Amino acid sequence: AAAQPGQAPAAIPAANAVVASKEVTVLFGSQTGNSNSLAKKLSNQLKERGFEVTISSMGDFKPNTLKKVQNLLIVVSTHGEGEPPDNAIAFYEFLHSKRAPQLTDTQYSVLALGDSSYEFFCQTGKDFDKRLEELGAKQLAPRVDCDVDFDEPAAEWMNQVLSSLSEAGAAPAAVSGAGAAVVSGVESEYSRTNPFQAEVLENLNLNGRGSERETRHVEISLEGSNLQYEPGDSLGMYPENHPRLVDELIEAMGWNADEPVTVNKNGEKRSLKEALLRVYEITVLTKPLLEQVAKTAPGNALKELLESGREQELRAYLNGRDLLDLVQDYSLKGIPADAFVPLLRKIPARLYSISSSPKAFPDEVHLTVRTVRYEARGRDRYGVCSVQLAERVQPGDTLPIYIQHNPSFKLPENPDTPIIMVGPGTGVAPFRAFLGEREETGAGGKTWLFYGDQHFSTDFLYQVEWQRWLKEGVLTRMDVAFSRDSEEKVYVQHRMLEKSRELYQWLQEGASVYVCGDEKKMAHDVHAALATILEQEGGLSPEEAAEYLIRMQQQKRYQRDVY
Ligand code: 2AM
Repeated sequence: AAAQPGQAPAAIPAANAVVASKEVTVLFGSQTGNSNSLAKKLSNQLKERGFEVTISSMGDFKPNTLKKVQNLLIVVSTHGEGEPPDNAIAFYEFLHSKRAPQLTDTQYSVLALGDSSYEFFCQTGKDFDKRLEELGAKQLAPRVDCDVDFDEPAAEWMNQVLSSLSEAGAAPAAVSGAGAAVVSGVESEYSRTNPFQAEVLENLNLNGRGSERETRHVEISLEGSNLQYEPGDSLGMYPENHPRLVDELIEAMGWNADEPVTVNKNGEKRSLKEALLRVYEITVLTKPLLEQVAKTAPGNALKELLESGREQELRAYLNGRDLLDLVQDYSLKGIPADAFVPLLRKIPARLYSISSSPKAFPDEVHLTVRTVRYEARGRDRYGVCSVQLAERVQPGDTLPIYIQHNPSFKLPENPDTPIIMVGPGTGVAPFRAFLGEREETGAGGKTWLFYGDQHFSTDFLYQVEWQRWLKEGVLTRMDVAFSRDSEEKVYVQHRMLEKSRELYQWLQEGASVYVCGDEKKMAHDVHAALATILEQEGGLSPEEAAEYLIRMQQQKRYQRDVY
């Protein structure tokens, strides 16, 4: 069973330990980079204590060496409907297959990252935990499942793992100097837990008049931060909730906006209004939140919904509703702010794929952000960060930001390797960075962009830039799919299939494929299109095509930045 976040798991007695080894293997499966950076942090702490650490992405790990691993620490996130991140898929499948070895000499522990607003919360971590146990591995410390505000439970898990490993007899002496990170250049003091207040330089709408879309091009200064990034990395930004929603919530609860509330473990206080604007998440409902609220409001109908076992009904209720809906639907007015507010999750940073090359725009980061606005149940609904950028951020303002490195979405090391980029809508963002970089470095490899959006006349983001790059040969080919300019919808994957022969030819020449944008539909359909092309043009069977794509993923020739 998993330890509850915030509650220290009981130590496993040293007697349970199978072996005392100084060697520890840390494996991470990461889509956006959080598991990756936690794994790095853990391995630095282990090194400081004198352990010999091997740290690897699951995608780079050789499964046939698993049997020899004595101490295995796994940090893995979950995506979509309980799926592993891309760089964990092959290892996940290996471990769950008949080829997986018995692991009776292995001790392990799992740190699972996830989002409790999803039904299959931390599913991948749970699966690894269960499977390792089935294979005979011994648990070194209980699994910890982290929600989007993962810092505290992750730190507790690390402490637990460190003390269990030491107790288990490895207990090496601390090595001075070990674990000091080797960095090129000056490392920035700014990070996710210590964001930089960055100045906004520019904020424009890229869509033309009459478009159904609004897409902001936001330029942000990194000057003075020492923050560095590469094409493919993301920017994390802590947003502010919509002031109107905060006011409506305070009103609906009968609270006083100026009332001081405690916002962290150190007892720091903020006014209720400030806390709801900047500290807490109020736009997403989760089952754990409803359970907590039900405890705080005994006799409420919420309890009935939670205890009915009608999971599907509960999921349907949670989907797309915010805190104001909950308060109104279940008449929660009257619960005091200091009892209610601590139940909320901390507002997580939003990640955006950076759309600039640092070589083309030194000390700047550009973002390409679609404004999310819609109406539901008689109320206007707003994407927290995108609407803030669209409505309440001007040049000269500052925003709390950090760089989220994404090693799983990187240009090929060889500048001559051809690249195929598929990025409809704001999915095109990192490809503006890729091409800017290839231009600045004079890379020779061919480049092919598939782009799409609703209408050619109003939604062709960065049109002049692509045209210039085409003219100058930085962009070799571009195929566009404007879905609403014709009777029949055309999407990027249709363009790919139309060009299947040439696309297959590029793959044969060793091209790397990059896909960015919507995960559920677009990226899924593009994946299917790639498989079809391999079958049609390469004569592969469906199974062989699927394996080919997995191999491409393992060789980092097929990378996705999808959400
Ligand atoms: P649509 O909104 O007209 O359906 C960027 O958002 C573009 O991606 C839009 O043109 C959108 O088309 C399109 N899109 C929507 N679903 C898609 C899918 N399954 N595959 C590829 N493109 C899709």
